Amino acid sequence: MSGEDIFEVRRFDQLGSTNTHLLEQARAGAPEGTVVVADHQSAGRGRLGRRWEAPPGTCLLVSVLLRPVTGPEERPLATAAVALAAVEACQVVAGVSPDVKWPNDLVVADRKLAGVLAEADPGAGGGPEGSVAVVVGLGLNIEWPGPPGVGGTCLAHLTGRSLDRDRLLDAWLCALAPRVVALRSADGRLDLAQELRERCSTLGRPVRVELVDGSVVEGTATGLSDGGHLVVGTASGPVVITAGDVIHLRPNGSTQGGG
Ligand code: BTN
Repeated sequence: MSGEDIFEVRRFDQLGSTNTHLLEQARAGAPEGTVVVADHQSAGRGRLGRRWEAPPGTCLLVSVLLRPVTGPEERPLATAAVALAAVEACQVVAGVSPDVKWPNDLVVADRKLAGVLAEADPGAGGGPEGSVAVVVGLGLNIEWPGPPGVGGTCLAHLTGRSLDRDRLLDAWLCALAPRVVALRSADGRLDLAQELRERCSTLGRPVRVELVDGSVVEGTATGLSDGGHLVVGTASGPVVITAGDVIHLRPNGSTQGGG
């Protein structure tokens, strides 16, 4: 079975942003499982208001619409479902096994291979009672390692060969399908959180977390909550991080790698 038997895939040569386009579709009532793919984005967006830029045809640029019936405390698991499916697609198609750097990056040896951006619109109707529209976008570097200075990598550099975007898309959709089902049940969500713990290279590391309000938390990443939030052990006790930029530190406190 192909991924396109499970998801409704809409393809574009160019869009501003696959996330922006799919959020508009969500507001117009598009169903869960709608997927938007573009060869190129003229206004691709990253987390925390950053831009996401890539030359045409060099990356897998794709967004999926989910309509989970979960509260904000479990919303990171939607990001996790997309990121973990991308890990599996890289394993199946390229023989590359990325880690997940909390909250949303796929990394290989601390170099960023992919980023994930989840955006919720509680006002977008069309899903089951109590659900929220969440658009989760994935930018996976296939031929291009990202802008200079970011410390990125791409599948072509890691494997020494070029990889087919459609095969990666299909493998990602096939890996995503069971995880979308998992998001629908309490047990499934616990399984996703556990899978994320096993794949998350942030755990056990000294980290500096820059929070959205500009404050900083430093300590050791000790765990992930069942909702997928990061727990950092600090001198004044454990702190649960819901959103922020994580920098992996070396044991002496200096920064490590990019991404
Ligand atoms: C990040 O690392 O900051 C997240 C980057 C997410 C980029 C993807 S590309 C497809 C989708 N559409 C967007 O505008 N952004 C996401």
